[in-house]
Amino acid sequence: MTHNHRPWGYQQNSEGVTPDWELHPDTQAIRAGLARSGFGETGEALYLTSGYTYESAEQAVHSFTDEIDHFVYSRFANPTVAMFENRLAALEGAEYCVGTGSGMSAMFASVACLVEAGDRIVASAAMFSSCYVVLAEILPKWGVQVEFVRGNNPDDWERALSQKTKVVFIETPSNPMLEVIDIAMVSSFAHAAGATVIVDNVMASPILQKPLQLGADVVMYSATKHIDGQGRVLGGAILGSSKYITESLNPFIRHTGPTLSAFNAWVLVKSLETLSMRVNRMNENAQQIAEFLSNQSKIKTVNYPGLASHPDYAISQRQMIGGGTTISFEAKGDVSDLFEIMDRLKVIDISNNLGDSKSLITHPASTTHRRLTPEMRAEMGITDSVVRLSVGLEHSSDLIRDLDQALT
Ligand SMILES: Cc1ncc(COP(=O)(O)O)c(C=O)c1O
Repeated sequence: MTHNHRPWGYQQNSEGVTPDWELHPDTQAIRAGLARSGFGETGEALYLTSGYTYESAEQAVHSFTDEIDHFVYSRFANPTVAMFENRLAALEGAEYCVGTGSGMSAMFASVACLVEAGDRIVASAAMFSSCYVVLAEILPKWGVQVEFVRGNNPDDWERALSQKTKVVFIETPSNPMLEVIDIAMVSSFAHAAGATVIVDNVMASPILQKPLQLGADVVMYSATKHIDGQGRVLGGAILGSSKYITESLNPFIRHTGPTLSAFNAWVLVKSLETLSMRVNRMNENAQQIAEFLSNQSKIKTVNYPGLASHPDYAISQRQMIGGGTTISFEAKGDVSDLFEIMDRLKVIDISNNLGDSKSLITHPASTTHRRLTPEMRAEMGITDSVVRLSVGLEHSSDLIRDLDQALT
């Protein structure tokens, strides 16, 4: 079915007027994908419907065979979900987008639709723990081989990709240690090995990093993070070429059903309108906070790609706008000292989500990355003294004051 895959971009409004110049992404974020009903509503309509009716039995047949563009069932496509998909595709500069119910269903479907028993995947080792579990435990049960490499070691990539490979999966920056992987470097080795490069772009968001422009083939999101960014709904998205979506992803999604709900899509399509403003402000706040933390005597290390001290600073300057909205840092002392600092915070909440308008702090070793073995956490650099701070939209002076009082 092609209903959710109309060409992306600004669509004709009800008067049939289309600008004859290329629109700025900030305009696309407000306008792209808008498909008004006959009522001329300004706000995007919420189509809470699971099914669709046909004027005749013949129209149903033609809808199923794709001879006419008619929605058939909301597991496959829905007008509100399509608005979100088309708008996000315009922002990303991707040919097509498919919305999913969560970031994990996006991650799983983006990879699983490409592989079969005997295929090989190469992935960067540092990543969100559920993505790691999919690659290290679930796919190998089905006969898929997965090799993990150090994300920023070109020799590792060259060696691992000297044999035929189906998929390369990278998360950059990584959660929570903010390792930044050179997308162009990995993509060139991957393409020589025949692999499709999938980037988990959750931590950067479509505003701060455009993996497709850097050589990647597919981008996936947890829309739960910056895209909603206001702590309301779960969602996910996969973006790529028309060939990848129509030949590989759509047949998989249609039958396995990780569909994004119309209600969540309606929340998310409106969230895209403010995404750039929110992420840019969070990014500015994070830079100021990272600089503040770097000068605190109780802090051992600060990991933030926007600091010149970050080992991947040069790569982040090349491929990202700013250092992102998340910081991780290690405090001096043991876990109880660290928990004391967290407990003293008055504005920043203790919570394991990220990308939210509210600043949130978590202890990855005991929460988000608890599922990994201590050895695996050690390999990713997630010691017991690491905390992750997702910087929100509050005024930076209040966030710095809050951290200052918690640290002293
Ligand atoms: C980098 C990354 N990828 C994927 C996910 C999964 O997203 P969701 O929680 O929406 O399933 C997360 C969630 O924390 C994440 O941080």
